Amino acid sequence: MRKTVLITGANGLLGQHLTEILTQHKSYNVVATGRGEDRFKGEGYQYHTMDVTDSQQVKEVFQVVKPSIVFHCAAISKVEHCEDDHDEAIRQNVTATAMLLELGKENDLEHFIYLSTDFVFDGEKGMYEEDDHRNPPNFYGKTKMMSEDLLLKEKEVKVAIVRTCLVYGQVKDMSRSNIMLWVKNKLMNGESIKVVNDQFRTPTYAGDLAKGCVLIADKKEVGIFHISGRDYLSPYEISLKVATYLNLSISNISPVNASTFIEHGRRPLKTGFTNKKAYDILNYQPISFNEGMKKVLAER
Ligand SMILES: NC(=O)c1ccc[n+]([C@@H]2O[C@H](COP(=O)([O-])OP(=O)(O)OC[C@H]3O[C@@H](n4cnc5c(N)ncnc54)[C@H](OP(=O)(O)O)[C@@H]3O)[C@@H](O)[C@H]2O)c1
Repeated sequence: MRKTVLITGANGLLGQHLTEILTQHKSYNVVATGRGEDRFKGEGYQYHTMDVTDSQQVKEVFQVVKPSIVFHCAAISKVEHCEDDHDEAIRQNVTATAMLLELGKENDLEHFIYLSTDFVFDGEKGMYEEDDHRNPPNFYGKTKMMSEDLLLKEKEVKVAIVRTCLVYGQVKDMSRSNIMLWVKNKLMNGESIKVVNDQFRTPTYAGDLAKGCVLIADKKEVGIFHISGRDYLSPYEISLKVATYLNLSISNISPVNASTFIEHGRRPLKTGFTNKKAYDILNYQPISFNEGMKKVLAER
């Protein structure tokens, strides 16, 4: 029998990719949820408007749908937003997680899959593994760590925590841009950009992240998984690749140190993941950055 999977934040970059992959999967009935109307506008799934901070709305949806698996993608992921309003960041990123888990348990939930971030790490080491010491450098990372901690205590329901890193992609009607689209749009408008050359990440194609999350559900895995791309790059290197691929001049791109930006909420210098656990246990196989870039830029 098909299991019902529910996605929160389904209008977002990961949410739309997950909705697409899961609707093609024979094992699942798919329920996409998000703020306001469905922006993916696909076929083969139900859509419910559901704000994850609205307990009444979550309760109603969970009672009707009774999801076996929840992919919790909704979050405030803008670092500045979390720095500006700690109470709101806790409400959205922590209290909502606890509430979804509790209401899930009241409705026979089996597996809770939570999206976390490389920003739980301070960026001193780079190429992090799942059991490395967390030390979030900003409030966004702190809220994600708080949710991780409350979920890691859970005994009744299977819990998996997926940490990812600098996700890029293109979906419909996005409420938030990402590095690839930002570089493309700026350069195509003839603008000059300053891009950091001393931060390092393993940028993640959103379609690969969605596949990694689905592998966790398929294999009923628990615990922490790092799911990212395989190439270790600075934002400056990314911008050069995008410009070169699009035949745009690289003379409009200037490398700068992160210290030259006055950051509102510190960003870690070196993050990125080895993905070793995901390669070994999930047989996760991300595409290269160059392949991901071609896919995304061709999607436009
Ligand atoms: N993108 C990255 O580089 C990155 C890196 C590490 C971790 N992550 C994590 O991965 C997850 C997915 O990220 P993403 O890239 O898909 O981000 P995204 O494109 O910003 O999607 C997040 C979605 O959550 C929705 N949302 C926010 N608050 C909500 C609420 N109260 N109720 C219901 N929906 C709400 C947003 O709705 P609106 O569209 O209406 O704003 C948005 O559609 C997040 O948990 C994020 O923290 C992302």
